[in-house]
Amino acid sequence: MTKTILSGVQPSGKLHIGNYFGAIRQFLALQEQGNHCYYFIADYHAMTSVKEPALLREYVREVAMSYLALGIDPEKSVFYRQSDVPAVTELSWIFSCLIPMGLLERCTSYKDKVAQGLTASHGLFYYPCLQAADILITSCDLVPVGQDQKQHIEVTRDIAEKFNNQYGEILTVPDAYILDNTAVVPGLDGRKMSKSYDNTIPLFETAKQSSKRVMRIVTDSTPVEDPKDPAKCNVFAMLKLLCNEAELAQWQEKYTRGGMGYGEAKKAVAEKLNELLAPYREKYEQLVNDPAYVDDVLAEGGRKAREKTNVLMEKVRSATGLR
Ligand code: TYM
Repeated sequence: MTKTILSGVQPSGKLHIGNYFGAIRQFLALQEQGNHCYYFIADYHAMTSVKEPALLREYVREVAMSYLALGIDPEKSVFYRQSDVPAVTELSWIFSCLIPMGLLERCTSYKDKVAQGLTASHGLFYYPCLQAADILITSCDLVPVGQDQKQHIEVTRDIAEKFNNQYGEILTVPDAYILDNTAVVPGLDGRKMSKSYDNTIPLFETAKQSSKRVMRIVTDSTPVEDPKDPAKCNVFAMLKLLCNEAELAQWQEKYTRGGMGYGEAKKAVAEKLNELLAPYREKYEQLVNDPAYVDDVLAEGGRKAREKTNVLMEKVRSATGLR
């Protein structure tokens, strides 16, 4: 059955393979299955960390080109910039008047980001409320995301239920769509791959640059001749993302037999990665040379997204007494 899908990515730096395997690959699959997809660039969200206007514009453009190069098709999906639908901020305020402080205080991503050194602004605290508005404004059924967003989807479901109890059954309560095997893609140091940990492999770099990053993947000091435990190896975690079953079985065998150095496995990761990304990188370069196309796509996507979301917003305004 055709479903309505919604998801977004923050333009707060270069997209990396954690974003791809954890989320964007699912965006593409759901698009190709003929669902009604809404994919957006979360520029209001990125303002919690990006304060420089020129940088925000640059990141928005990079993320737009990345989405398009990877295969988000504006003929099939509504692809837009969050700030082209300003009603999300209106809806988030309405939610903000329903949501208890305690619910936001329990959100771990706020605490994590403050611990990493981000300013504890009100926007950062209020972030899940805005995310709930992004989601609920499209009346979507499914939200494809990585594991780190699970709690935000739970908060969104709580808000939708609170709203519906208070004002009538207007909002659709969505489900998170998280794939077990890619829910958390590890970074070069084995922690979750994240822009804020500087442990990423960006999607759109040269083959040489990504090979260099792969060589930095942290491994233990087991000597070449000894058997190695694939389950504990950050390089093997990458092989799992990139190899088919038969190839993976061969690597598993090489690890456990001994006589294999981590350098050999890293080389394979670099080659596989570059094979996967080469066509996307080519498409990205074409988009760099066609900024007017990217502008047109975003303008049209914004128009379609406003048209869709206005219908729900009119219901919300009327149910809450704003009309
Ligand atoms: P963001 O921009 O941090 O990440 C975009 C998507 O990539 C996933 N992801 C990962 N998945 C697996 N392993 C990783 N190492 C990894 N790193 C990132 C994220 O889970 C996410 O799905 N708050 C969101 C943006 C947002 C949003 C929304 C998402 C705003 N409004 C509404 C869905 C619906 C965020 O910061 O994602």
